Parts: sequence; C-alpha cells; structure tokens
Amino acid sequence: MSAGWSFYIVALTAINLIGLIWLLLATAAKPKNDKPATETMGHVWDGDIEELNNPLPRWWFILFILTFIFGFAYLALYPGLGTFKGSLGWSSGAEVQAELDATNAKLETLFAGFRNQPLADLIDNPAATKVGRNVFANNCSACHGSDARGATGYPNLVDADWLYGGEPETVLASIMNGRHGLMPPMVATLPGNGVEEVANYALSLSGLAHDARLASVGKPKFEAICAACHGVDGKGNHALGAPNLTDDIWLHGNGNLAGIKNTITYGVSGVMPAWGALISEDRARLAAAWILAQGKSSAESERDDAARSGGAR
Ligand code: HEC
Ligand code: HEC
Repeated sequence: MSAGWSFYIVALTAINLIGLIWLLLATAAKPKNDKPATETMGHVWDGDIEELNNPLPRWWFILFILTFIFGFAYLALYPGLGTFKGSLGWSSGAEVQAELDATNAKLETLFAGFRNQPLADLIDNPAATKVGRNVFANNCSACHGSDARGATGYPNLVDADWLYGGEPETVLASIMNGRHGLMPPMVATLPGNGVEEVANYALSLSGLAHDARLASVGKPKFEAICAACHGVDGKGNHALGAPNLTDDIWLHGNGNLAGIKNTITYGVSGVMPAWGALISEDRARLAAAWILAQGKSSAESERDDAARSGGAR
C-alpha cells in the first residue's frame, strides 16, 4: 500500500470516528432548561400518536461509548489504520503459516517413519498407502481419476501398461520430475494414402479389425518412420514415453480407425506436471506406493478371475 493510500484510509477512519462521537454527544445532550422536558418533532399520526425528541436511554448511550472504546482498542492492537500493523503484530498470513507449521510438525513425525523404508516395502504397508491415497486424492485425481484409472489423454496408473515404466523408482521419477510425451504431427511424412495405411497397420498390431491390404502397405512405412519411437515391433519405448501399440490399450481415443488417423495426422502431446517441489518427496513416495498397491491388487484379482474361469482367458 502506498503512503498516500495509507494516509487516506487513516484520515477517513479518523473523520468517521470523530463524526460519530460528535453525533452521539449532540443527540444525547440533555434538553435545555428553557425547553419543555419532552420536545415533540411536530409529527402526528392516527390523530394522537406524536413523535417525541427524547434523549437516548442511558444504557444505550453507554453501549455506544463501549463500542467506541472497543474500536479504538482494536485499531491500536490490530492492523486497521492504513499501513499501521497494530501493536500486537498480528497478521492473517502469519496465522495461516502458524497453522501450517503445526500441521507439518504433526505430519513430520508421520513421514519420518516412512522415510527410511524402501519404496518397494511401502507398497505392502497399509499405513503408508492409506496416507498415499489421500495425497493422490488431493493432488492427482483431477487428471487421473479418483481410482487412478485415467481418462483420454491421462494414463491409467493401475494397469500393467506404463508409458515410462512401472518400476517403483521410475514411477517416483515420473511424479517428482513430471513427464512430457510428444508425438509430432506425422502427416507430412506420409504422403498419399500413407496415414490410412499406417493406421490400419497400427490396428493390426493390436489384433483389431483392419484392412489387410492397406496394413501390408503400411508396415514398411511404420518401420521406416514410426519405429524410431514406437519400436520395430510397435511395443513402445519407455525412455520416450512412446506407448505400446500392440496391447489394445489406448491413451488417445479408443482404438478406432478415425482416432488413430487423427493421432497420426496431428500428433499428440501429454504433460504430467512435476510434483517434487509442490508436494515434497515424502508425499510423492506415498502416492507412488498407493498407485503401485492398487496395480498389484487389480493384477491379483484378474489372476483370481482367470483361475476361477479355468484359465480360459
Ligand atoms: C494436470 C493433470 C495431471 C495431474 C494433476 C497429475 N498428472 Fe500424472 N500424468 C498426467 C499426464 C497427461 C500423464 C501422461 C504424460 C504423457 O503423456 O507423457 C501423466 C503421467 C503420470 C505417470 C506416468 C505413467 C506411465 O504410464 O508411465 C505417473 C506415475 C503419474 N502421472 C502420477 C501422478 C501422480 C502421483 C499425480 C499427483 C501427485 C499426478 N500424476 C498428477 C497428468 C497429470
Ligand atoms: C518422435 C517419436 C514418435 C514418432 C516418430 C511417432 N510417435 Fe506415435 N507417439 C509418440 C508418443 C510420445 C506418444 C504418446 C503421446 C502422449 O504422451 O500423449 C505417441 C502416441 C501414439 C499413438 C496413440 C496411442 C494411444 O495409446 O492412444 C498412436 C496410435 C501412435 N503414436 C502411432 C504412431 C504412428 C503410426 C507413427 C508413425 C507414423 C508414430 N506414432 C510416430 C511418439 C512418437
């Protein structure tokens, strides 16, 4: 706040207070001796109801005086007069900081217990994954969904399909440092019917319905252009975040020809923000532990299903 504004506010507050005190004293003044004890304002309603000019009742007057005393005390102790900080030095920012410090001190004891355990152990530690679940709900679910199963453009984190790798340390690195997966628009490198042909080949990689003739023309083009990132076999590349194209799991679109052609023509880009500086490594490790525990239990329940159905899957 500039000095001018501060002065303006102080002056405005002071003038208001002085004005109000004057008003109070002026209206509370006892009637002069030469006037009748009950002066009327000269307003009459319904024949005989008159408006009188009585002084304020004593208790009301005292109440007003008390509010003035409160007001002056408040302005002396707390910030209110321009840039004057008040003699107590209180501020809302400091109050929030104090609460934050108290919460962090409480959490510090909680986190300290997990800090020297390997991430791989935390996955099987229900106390750790319980905290991790909250960290995830507060910071990650907006993009990845509350069950971490993702959405178009936001990867499912509990399946076994990873863009960057599912080793505990790799998952932690994804969270701490963020990721940026970039596929440039490829249309310029695929003249003629190239996009259609390569898209049909991509469908064939996942065993989906496709045009076999177009796919066979697309195969050498894929190997020449796309393999650099997605691998000759199309199984992807964790170093680049290039998805596996053979598993019928789709980050963009749902595996139909139009969606794949769109991806190839215009390219795609996915940004995972870096969380290290925002939530601290303690929280990032717990979130990673929860994600990996979810993945583990969904893999186990799928194995159970497969066993029950006689391994028919
Ligand atoms: C603003 C949206 C957004 C938020 C919030 C977000 N993520 Fe992500 N995350 C993404 C995107 C997009 C990707 C995929 C990046 C890519 O396409 O290369 C991703 C990728 C990941 C990956 C790598 C997945 C893989 O297959 O290798 C992990 C792990 C991950 N996120 C965990 C988290 C955690 C934990 C949080 C919370 C602390 C979080 N994310 C918050 C958008 C987000
Ligand atoms: C420079 C590396 C690079 C090249 C070259 C490249 N891609 Fe990609 N591709 C990626 C990355 C990275 C992603 C994931 C983008 C993201 O994180 O959102 C991707 C995503 C895709 C997807 C979406 C997968 C899904 O799960 O939805 C398809 C399909 C695809 N690429 C096909 C192709 C084809 C076909 C070509 C060749 C014409 C090609 N790509 C060339 C890096 C590349």
